[in-house]
Amino acid sequence: MALSNRVSEDLRVLMPKIAVQVAQRSSKIPLIDMGTAENWLIREEVIQFCIHSVKETISPEGLSYQRGFTGDPDLIQAFCEFLESYFNPHQELDASCVCTAPGGGAILESFLATTCDVGDGVLVIAPFWSGFHFQFKLQKVQILSVQVPDELAFSEKIVDFLQKAFHDAHTTVKAVVICNPHNPLGQCYPANTLAAIAQFCEKHDLHLLSDELYALSVFESPDLPKASPFTSILRLDAKAIGVSPSRLHTMWSASKDLACNGLRVGFFASQNRELVVGVSMTSNTQVSYLSSLAVRGMLSDRKFLGDIITFNKTRLSQAYHVVSTFLKRLNIEYFPVAAGVYVWAKLSPKVKTWEAEAELAATLSERRVAISSGRSYSSVEPGWYRLTFALRPQDLKKGLAIIEEVLVQS
Ligand SMILES: Cc1ncc(COP(=O)(O)O)c(C=O)c1O
Repeated sequence: MALSNRVSEDLRVLMPKIAVQVAQRSSKIPLIDMGTAENWLIREEVIQFCIHSVKETISPEGLSYQRGFTGDPDLIQAFCEFLESYFNPHQELDASCVCTAPGGGAILESFLATTCDVGDGVLVIAPFWSGFHFQFKLQKVQILSVQVPDELAFSEKIVDFLQKAFHDAHTTVKAVVICNPHNPLGQCYPANTLAAIAQFCEKHDLHLLSDELYALSVFESPDLPKASPFTSILRLDAKAIGVSPSRLHTMWSASKDLACNGLRVGFFASQNRELVVGVSMTSNTQVSYLSSLAVRGMLSDRKFLGDIITFNKTRLSQAYHVVSTFLKRLNIEYFPVAAGVYVWAKLSPKVKTWEAEAELAATLSERRVAISSGRSYSSVEPGWYRLTFALRPQDLKKGLAIIEEVLVQS
């Protein structure tokens, strides 16, 4: 029986792109996964806390359908308080400014459905997280990739590149999506750059969505002693810089900073209440009660949260030290990192084509080490890869040793 034209087309375009990942994750042979942005450094503490918290709070009422339309009211309340403490918004956000969905990916997709019509475009600064291709394609929204030279990647000059891409676009542009802290570059945007991007959005009447999934995974890095701290887009005094607060939105999920991708809990927050309801309506899939309990427990326990964020920062810093020492020893060029769980590195000067880039990843995959190839991040130069370092120390060591062996042999 035939499938719809739109799904047939999505299957044809998307499935080959993720075929390697699907095969790697489905295989029973152990894999050292340096390709997926996951955090293994705080899982034991998170598990212990969640078991206790769920046991204490589970109730028969919770087995009913969710109470609120935009998400479980208790989860939303816990998130509002968390946001107030850690994102420091200029204007307080109440429960009507927040909705939930099963993960950041779902939030992004619903945001696109709510703000864009089929064929519209969104400006995204490259390189960008490869998963964006998936969400955008499913919503039939075009990614208008904005190439910015590395040395200007976090400067106000970005606006010149956004301006050019906006001018050259052959479709209606509806929004700018940024990732702060950046995925894959692992740094935060300074506040003045965020303000300049927001003003660009005001000038062209665009939404600005800041994907802030790694907000709390900012750590001390000897490579970047003067790294910009994390500034949420909601921290900007929008009115003072001539921007309508209703065009600035953030998304966050428990996947990265709380190391639980599998729980599937994401949040969208904005002063634009109509958009919040729209995002909630289009997402249409509620967060599981058990996931909601676990995340609500973590967000509302100040002591646990403070401790886990501190442990995470220390362990990320240690793991980054291991990977950056390795890269320096092998004279591998990389983008210095002070946030996130990965590093963007040009593994081999011998890789000069997209085919050679894919080949190196395939050779490592045969040795059961996964890495992410730069092409899927819209990198302009072949040979860049994103390597996750937030692994168990023994896995990181083994993964790096195999990478070294393969590079030496290639
Ligand atoms: C920048 C960014 N946004 C969104 C997501 C999706 O995360 P989630 O697991 O919350 O759907 C990811 C996952 O890798 C990501 O890196």
